[in-house]
Amino acid sequence: MSVVAVIGAQWGDEGKGKIVDMLAEKARYVVRFSGGDNAGHTVVNPYGEFKLHIIPSGVFSTGVTAIIGNGVVVNPAVLIGEMEQLHKSGVATPRLFISDRAHLIMPYHILLDGLEEKARGGRAIGTTGKGIGPAFADKVARLGIRAGDLLDKEAFRERLSAVLGYKNTILTKVYDAAPLSLEDIYNQYCQYADRLAPHINDTTMMLAQALGRHEPILLEGAQGTLLDPDFGTYPYTTSSSPLAGGACLGAGLGPGQVTHIMGVFKAYCTRVGGGPMPTELKDKTGDAIRESGHEYGTTTGRARRCGWFDGVAARFSTRINGFTTAAITRLDVLDELAELRICTGYKLDGQTIDYFPANIAALDKCQPVYEELPGWEKPINDVRKFKDLPPNAQRYVKRLEELTGCPASIISVGMKREQTIIRRKVF
Ligand code: IMP
Repeated sequence: MSVVAVIGAQWGDEGKGKIVDMLAEKARYVVRFSGGDNAGHTVVNPYGEFKLHIIPSGVFSTGVTAIIGNGVVVNPAVLIGEMEQLHKSGVATPRLFISDRAHLIMPYHILLDGLEEKARGGRAIGTTGKGIGPAFADKVARLGIRAGDLLDKEAFRERLSAVLGYKNTILTKVYDAAPLSLEDIYNQYCQYADRLAPHINDTTMMLAQALGRHEPILLEGAQGTLLDPDFGTYPYTTSSSPLAGGACLGAGLGPGQVTHIMGVFKAYCTRVGGGPMPTELKDKTGDAIRESGHEYGTTTGRARRCGWFDGVAARFSTRINGFTTAAITRLDVLDELAELRICTGYKLDGQTIDYFPANIAALDKCQPVYEELPGWEKPINDVRKFKDLPPNAQRYVKRLEELTGCPASIISVGMKREQTIIRRKVF
């Protein structure tokens, strides 16, 4: 029996979708545990190419139950849209379940996300605009509406009416915006309820039963460690925990039940939105990595900021997640570069440091200390064994392993599922 958590080790977009899609073949349950439709996983498989925002990637594997856990905030319109897309491509979703404890994204969350960002002016976070922050804020403020609430329409109407009164006061009095109609939202969400009711369940019970039967479970991360509200570059973070600890909380499992924690590291760094990124390249090399890696947001289409691999951030990520193994993705994106750099420390106020500062003002001042390594300058998409990688690519991977302190079980050398080097199995 294995429970494997797949965790983004950087700022999201590490290529977790492909890793999860591969591992899902061996799992019986795949659980999304945090975030919402701010995430975007591109999955390429025999059914075609899919951009999934809310449905766990495991949905493609027959015999797999895909769960949207209690730690996720769910936009029902997006979820139903994705289900319909899958059905059109011949992928059925009878084994897709949503935790009755998962909070719902409501129309006012999306409106407020936009209004709050506008009010931040030059300090905007660069959110995805999907209402994620306001939905998680309501969860903690005890103003949320949960998937399970849709199952009792009368109670749902009462709850919505109370919350909406408060939200409309904020919309009209703080932001000078138009109020939202109770009837419109209620009717719309009742339609969602009819569509989703068969999929809403106590998913913690399902997982407990799966554990009892010793069935393998995969916990599918969204976003990345450096976007965590506690350990990321706060306040330039998301609003739920993408960490291994968040995986337990967002799925309803105990920490002792997780057997492997896999950190997914891209072979370089990217970030979308605002906030510090010490190794960012604002030059031709950054542009070359962006073009070679098609580094444009799956959810918003925004160009991602690109930079060298940050060994300081990576080590921090390993430490706070307790990674037991790693996946290194997109190694092939570096194929054409003659020279590569890896950040091994930061220079801060004249001193070299090897830790990731909590304070973004300090992080903003950090200058990366680089180590140079020769590139391999040849395509590696067809390589399937580590020993067949060009020696310089092997050296690069080994250095990443040393810096992260984490052995790489999987190395991805292309978009397709088969373009992968597997060194150790976790399932
Ligand atoms: P939010 O999660 O939409 O509130 O956005 C907060 C920050 O997290 C912004 O900088 C977003 O660009 C970033 N973010 C949210 N989801 C993702 C993701 O899936 N990949 C990369 N960045 C993300």
